[in-house]
Amino acid sequence: MKKQEATPARHVVVVGTQWGDEGKGKLVDWLTETATGVVRFQGGHNAGHTLVINGQKTALHLIPSGIMRAGVKCYIGNGVVLSVGKLLEEIQGLERAGVSVRDRLFISEACPLILPFHVTIDMAREAAKERSGGAKIGTTGRGIGPAYEDKIARRALRVQDLRHPERFAIKLKELLALHNHVLSTFLDGANIEWPDAVKPYLVDSQVSFDAVYQEAMAQAAELLPMVADVSKALNEAHAQGANLLFEGAQGTLLDIDHGTYPFVTSSNCVAGNAAAGAGVGPGLLHYVLGITKAYCTRVGGGPFPTELDWEVEGTPGWHMATVGAERGTTTGRSRRCGWFDAALLKRSAQVNGLSGLCITKLDVLDGLDELKLCIGYELDGERIDLLPMGADEIERCKPIYETLPGWQDTTVGATQMEQLPANALAYLRRIEEVTQVPVHMVSTSPDRDHTILLKHPYHAE
Ligand code: GDP
Ligand code: IMO
Ligand code: MG
Repeated sequence: MKKQEATPARHVVVVGTQWGDEGKGKLVDWLTETATGVVRFQGGHNAGHTLVINGQKTALHLIPSGIMRAGVKCYIGNGVVLSVGKLLEEIQGLERAGVSVRDRLFISEACPLILPFHVTIDMAREAAKERSGGAKIGTTGRGIGPAYEDKIARRALRVQDLRHPERFAIKLKELLALHNHVLSTFLDGANIEWPDAVKPYLVDSQVSFDAVYQEAMAQAAELLPMVADVSKALNEAHAQGANLLFEGAQGTLLDIDHGTYPFVTSSNCVAGNAAAGAGVGPGLLHYVLGITKAYCTRVGGGPFPTELDWEVEGTPGWHMATVGAERGTTTGRSRRCGWFDAALLKRSAQVNGLSGLCITKLDVLDGLDELKLCIGYELDGERIDLLPMGADEIERCKPIYETLPGWQDTTVGATQMEQLPANALAYLRRIEEVTQVPVHMVSTSPDRDHTILLKHPYHAE
């Protein structure tokens, strides 16, 4: 369906339904043929969204994945924590590749800032966990958690503070007094081996006011022309009949409330947060597309009931890791791999109100003899069919599997359901049956064009 056939003023939310890296970036880029505005509403540059257009790869961390379509407006909503330095680096990278950004990127003045001390605290906390023998979260080390903590504690510096150097300086001094105290006492900052990127901000293991302040003021001049009232702009776009796309980052099982707590990120990744994190009413979220890998992956620590021995050559997990090239876009870490978990997806469907699924990376399963599908768990001697809440319970879940036959033909590049082998169709049908969510799209390679469409999210009933 082409742009002109979309239902006017219909808006779509794209969310990850597992632990992130489901292929959200590819599908957001694909859907932007129809949308005229794309909005990030949570997370920060912990996200890594990969787009492949005519064989050319682009990795985005903060800038919405609509940026690769000329003329599409991109918005960073108030729910995002913003590292101005990383944003400017990303803009410059896109500009070097010939993509215009500054005339169509709009950043909320209410975004809390990620500053260098958030990064040092993030790293120091993980180092402290390691020293004490505790389980690390395995964060991306980007300062995401500490920045959200400052927001919730009502002491964050926000984008709008960059307009007022004196106000910025007063707040920054107060913040640094607190964070430097924690760093030197509780987190033993003097005994941490800091990476080179952090060293310029440190003087005697304390984060220097001058270094942070001067850099922030220099960046402000470049950032402020892109700062806007995003809530107002989105409501106006809606009134004019535009189609908007709300681009989720991370995934539902990394959600601060609904995920495998405490092994989660520090924001709500679920669809409902698209409204609060962008400044629109929930009535404007008309369709929720759940991006779902045909198997499961996870980066970092935390429970993963269907995890396989993905490092053992020749096993199904190793097949997923190698054929799927499962390596993180942001940190380069290997992604843990495992079977599809339909009981987990039921939790995701419930907390997001999914309208339809897009099953991605179906092609990665080509060539496996048989596939296992987790339909529930045994937990403390009882059988359950829905992922429980929180890491402690999930850790004790033993998956219950159904076995389905695999397929040997290739699905790579298929654009019609009729091109899929019968066993691949049966696998998709079984996922629909168990999760009770219809499959509306299927993705069969990283390329923008290798996508099967069954129901278009921008086409109202
Ligand atoms: P995101 O964080 O959800 O946007 O996902 P990432 O971009 O981090 O990771 C998904 C990876 O899978 C990227 O390298 C994509 O290019 C790739 N990808 C997306 N869809 C497909 C697909 O259908 N098949 C294959 N083989 N790769 C895909
Ligand atoms: P996209 O948008 C996969 C994971 C980290 C860690 C946990 C907390 O590309 O799907 P954080 O730095 O957020 O405090 O780390 O969350 N994580 C992701 N995993 N994809 C992501 O984003 C992720 N963003 C954060 O690995 O386990
Ligand atoms: Mg990713």
